[in-house]
Amino acid sequence: MDSTDLALRAEGICFAYRGEEWVLKDISLSVPRGKATMIMGPSGSGKTTLMKVLAGILCPQRGRLEALSQEVGKRTRRSLYSLIGYIPQQLGLVRNLTSLENVLMGALGRCGHGKVMLGLFPRHEVEQAQAALDLMGIGDKSSEKVFRLSGGQRQRVAIARTLLQRPRVVLADEFVSDLDLALAAEILRLMRQVAEREQMTFVANMHEPQLVREFADQVLILDHGQIVRRFPTDGSQERSPSEVLQ
Ligand SMILES: Nc1ncnc2c1ncn2[C@@H]1O[C@H](COP(=O)(O)OP(=O)(O)OP(=O)(O)O)[C@@H](O)[C@H]1O
Ligand SMILES: [Mg+2]
Repeated sequence: MDSTDLALRAEGICFAYRGEEWVLKDISLSVPRGKATMIMGPSGSGKTTLMKVLAGILCPQRGRLEALSQEVGKRTRRSLYSLIGYIPQQLGLVRNLTSLENVLMGALGRCGHGKVMLGLFPRHEVEQAQAALDLMGIGDKSSEKVFRLSGGQRQRVAIARTLLQRPRVVLADEFVSDLDLALAAEILRLMRQVAEREQMTFVANMHEPQLVREFADQVLILDHGQIVRRFPTDGSQERSPSEVLQ
């Protein structure tokens, strides 16, 4: 595949937390643009660490990483940040701010830091934040403080915030695992609609085989910091995710 068709490309990535053993061992992967890639693997296999490396939050000790055809390094990390949205496992919402204020955090890259107060954001950004909440089906919760929301509603606020960032790539770490399957599927369907409309690339860690079967174009299985299986796009395995994830 031409590298311009790739949203992310990693080659020989090794990562260890300070003074610890390797958590990621020689990871190479390609994430095609505009598609959904899902990463599965047992607890502790390194999924979150891999997400953080791909998001440019952790810097690998070995290997090369390219995002949107640019090498990720010290100089490009900051400019790439606005192009890559990351939804952490713990969502990273500010509990004491409202849903709308949390979503507006996604616009900080454009509006400058320090303008966290609602009144300081340009009106069109506030309207877009409201539209993102409407899209997620929680427009009526925009002035509710986040600590008063349910787990599923919080997850939708986190997604709306990431969408407001207008990223080219969204990396989501287990972001639907607290939800029941029907709601998780509904949210993934919404993500897919947005991804298709905006040509956005989606990478997620996920435990639920049913969801992976329905939504993944590519699946990577991680174990002890290594990719032990991948399908269907490496050419060596013809089977589709739905055949493998019985
Ligand atoms: N900040 C850290 N400092 C040191 N070791 C860490 C740190 N974060 C994770 N680890 C270790 O790295 C390994 C991989 O952790 P990681 O969080 O990437 O796994 P995971 O696949 O996301 O697991 P889970 O499914 O439980 O979320 C684990 O052995 C963990 O103990
Ligand atoms: Mg994790």
